[in-house]
Amino acid sequence: MEPKDYEQQISNIVLKARLVLDDVNDLEGLTNFRNTYLAKKSELSSLMGKMKEIPAEERGAFGKAVNDARANIENAFNEKKEAIEHKALKEKLKKERIDLTLPGRTHASGKMNPCWIIIDEMCDIFASMGFDIVEGRDVETDHFNFELLNVPKDHPARDMQDTFYIDDSLLLRTQTSAAQAHTMLENEEKKPIKMICPGKCFRRDDDDATHSHQFGQIEGLVVDKGISLADLKGTLELFVKKMFGEKREIRLRSSFFPFTEPSVEVDVSCAKCGGKGCNMCKGTGWIEILGAGEVNPEVLRMCGYDPAVYSGFAFGVGVERLAMLRYGIDDIRRIYANDIRFLKDFSEK
Ligand code: DAH
Repeated sequence: MEPKDYEQQISNIVLKARLVLDDVNDLEGLTNFRNTYLAKKSELSSLMGKMKEIPAEERGAFGKAVNDARANIENAFNEKKEAIEHKALKEKLKKERIDLTLPGRTHASGKMNPCWIIIDEMCDIFASMGFDIVEGRDVETDHFNFELLNVPKDHPARDMQDTFYIDDSLLLRTQTSAAQAHTMLENEEKKPIKMICPGKCFRRDDDDATHSHQFGQIEGLVVDKGISLADLKGTLELFVKKMFGEKREIRLRSSFFPFTEPSVEVDVSCAKCGGKGCNMCKGTGWIEILGAGEVNPEVLRMCGYDPAVYSGFAFGVGVERLAMLRYGIDDIRRIYANDIRFLKDFSEK
């Protein structure tokens, strides 16, 4: 091969390569270009293979010319590669640009169900008066739910608590009062007791605005020497003032529960009218909130406390009822419907 032949060939290859490179504008095009013009099987490489055909004294110049051409194409390739990568990066940054001035996304947070607000608050109030918080059980035996509370089989009081029985002796607790018997019996040394027990209760009631087959109760029990109805009244008065406000008064009306003697029903003066009478208190000025009384000596005896030495008081209060009074909820079913708009109305204090 004459020098002018290969020089011409080399400059043709370079010219063609640069023309092709001009039209390359993405990474895929770059890869194709490299495979065609710079890889082992490129035209330049096969030209190099023709070294043998070159007269010996020309070979140095020939080799240099081919290498220069390769360097030329390689430089152009690298420049192009840099430009394409730069452009791609710029586009990516533009696409992924973050607007720091946009407001952040807030997460919707859950709210406490009003019943839990009441339970938490009651536990705080009674704990501050030295009461223990005791946990009961949802599934009870007939023995603890009724018998030990002085409600034997066929006792008319059972009619008031239509029960979900699991079998002859197991049932879904109808009242947290069952925790009274557990607490007294489990207290082996028969020490004084001061406890409250929040829990779920179940009754075969038809659900309506004021009844639910499942509801919450909080039981209270104090057993010690010399406990009287005055202690009950003082304790409940303090509780009501803390829960419903300093101005609230309570009154005790005589009632009947098999596990207390005497038994009372406790009313609180109406928060809406202050006792004058309104639609909320049905014109009476008072609203019933709970049942209570002095622990029946028979219950103390069955639970291992000598009624000649010990006395006590007990009370049981409906959680939903307190929530409805506090928040003016007119239908108990709203408490369970899980409507977020309803739940949002209550904030933790
Ligand atoms: N267990 C009663 C009920 O569910 C409420 C009650 C009344 C509890 C008087 C008591 C009490 O501890 O002394 O209707």
